[in-house]
Amino acid sequence: MKKIAIFATGAGSNARRIIEAFRDSDEARVSMVACNKQGAGVTHIAASEGIPLLMLEKTRFFDGDGHLADLQAAGIDWIVLAGFLWKVPDGLVEAYRNRIVNIHPALLPKFGGKGMYGPHVHEAVIRAGEKESGITIHMVDERYDHGKTVFQASIPVEDGETPESLAAKIHRLEHLHYPDVIRKLLSGKLPS
Ligand code: GAR
Repeated sequence: MKKIAIFATGAGSNARRIIEAFRDSDEARVSMVACNKQGAGVTHIAASEGIPLLMLEKTRFFDGDGHLADLQAAGIDWIVLAGFLWKVPDGLVEAYRNRIVNIHPALLPKFGGKGMYGPHVHEAVIRAGEKESGITIHMVDERYDHGKTVFQASIPVEDGETPESLAAKIHRLEHLHYPDVIRKLLSGKLPS
């Protein structure tokens, strides 16, 4: 049984879908939620699901061991970023090489990089007059939004689209695909 740690900062709607998808799986389980923001929605989801919560300390994360000892002590095999807004430190990338996956709410390499998260992405997509947007699921390396792409799906950006309406469509797409792509990665059906 593989053990997944979800790293998240915000509401945790993707985290919830992933937890549900693996609740009765024979292959993997979400056995930790790691969060860097006190009181974030995802912390309440972890509590209600009875999943251990790791609150990440900024200094330890960036200047210490990146909480690697905590992950190893819990036997974590894979790290799944689901709306996690801190950059993963190099030491953690190295320790979990090809076993950290991220979802980004746009079609990378467009609209990625530092500061490009959540609403900022959708505002930039609309401002640029893009005719389509989508989601990118990619492996995490030492550079922001840069590792190997394992999955993309797109949707049209309609006339009169707002950042809010686009965010809602993107969230639906994420919930539809992310658990399934994670399952395929963990079982080796998709190369990481
Ligand atoms: C998701 O749309 C995810 O793609 C995005 O944050 C949202 C989190 O929503 N991630 C990024 O922008 C990372 N650069 P959630 O907390 O409801 O899952």
